[in-house]
Amino acid sequence: PPPLRIGIAGLGTVGAGVVRMLRENAALITARAGRRLVVTAVSARDRTRDRGVDLSDVAWCDDAAELAAHPDVDVVVELVGGAEGIARRIVTGALENGRPVVTANKALMAIHGAELATLAQKANVPLMFEAAVAGGIPAIKTVREALAGDRILKVGGILNGTCNYILTAMRETGRDFADILADAQKLGYAEADPSTDVDGVDAAHKLAILAGLAFGRPVVFASVYIEGIRRIGALDLHFARELGYRIKLLGIARQHANGIEARVHPCLVPNTTPIAQVDGVFNAVVVEGAFVGRLMLEGRGAGEGPTATAVTADLIDIARGNAIPVWGRSTDGLTQAVALPRAQF
Ligand code: NDP
Ligand code: HSE
Repeated sequence: PPPLRIGIAGLGTVGAGVVRMLRENAALITARAGRRLVVTAVSARDRTRDRGVDLSDVAWCDDAAELAAHPDVDVVVELVGGAEGIARRIVTGALENGRPVVTANKALMAIHGAELATLAQKANVPLMFEAAVAGGIPAIKTVREALAGDRILKVGGILNGTCNYILTAMRETGRDFADILADAQKLGYAEADPSTDVDGVDAAHKLAILAGLAFGRPVVFASVYIEGIRRIGALDLHFARELGYRIKLLGIARQHANGIEARVHPCLVPNTTPIAQVDGVFNAVVVEGAFVGRLMLEGRGAGEGPTATAVTADLIDIARGNAIPVWGRSTDGLTQAVALPRAQF
């Protein structure tokens, strides 16, 4: 079969990681996908920047939106970020042109996922976003595919690597919040605007996506309750320790008769629970199903390698013809779900 030709918008932590992975693992990816996956076109802001990967044989687009209609591109990969602007234009344009899309953009999927899913459905092309939730943890596949036969009662967990890294380092080293955040930025964990991480918004994006898939209906993002970690200080961590707890930023979503409860805030979790032991950049995705019971997946929630792995898995699904629609096999009977205000939890 002909190679799958890939156009990548965004060559930062994740974009450069995807190029590296596709090149380094080319033989095994070809064997598993049944065809070659080749990057044919890319775009980023600064053409001159060294990204640690050879781009000499790849077409460069000064305007990333060109990728949506580029003649040498079969699949558009959006790794720029942000719910609006160029990222939304690229994804919308590609779907309108009947091109499959892979994105790691949780802000875009949490806020515009329902309308993008409709575009993808109309064009009958895949819109894949495994990397948008919990980095290297196969959270979307687990909720949407592995648990497709079960009624999910609860979903959530530790969904932001930067916050968990900060809370862990503050607890273990007593170092200053701002210093640790600067480390997380250097390591490529934080969002372009790190207040998205520390104010809980990024975790809420991921929770809204997970809850939408788990409960079968898109969640209205603006109704998710959000509180970040800025107000957690050394004294809070000290008292938590004295009392046998750890402080974790958790996302929690549950289905109720009158709507979906969806909230993100710092929680005291008993030291003895498995989720309390998930430290550093690691995330935990917890799902409770009526038949399966409770399960917890743990892994790196941010950074180049884990996120590139998730993007590449989506590309392999597309190459194999395995990609499934955003809401699963059927989109019948979907209605918008509004999360409950906090007073009703
Ligand atoms: P970076 O900030 O490292 O990279 C963003 C890239 O987008 C850069 O290459 C930048 O170009 C490019 N870019 C910005 N504006 C434009 C534009 N107008 N036109 C073309 N290119 C543009 O981000 P990340 O790689 O960390 O994140 C990318 C996406 O992946 C985001 O949606 C993020 O939320 C998501 N994500 C990130 C994870 C992580 O661990 N970092 C994990 C999971 C998801 P230039 O390099 O020239 O400045
Ligand atoms: N900024 C995000 C985090 C990246 O720290 O979890 C992964 O989605």
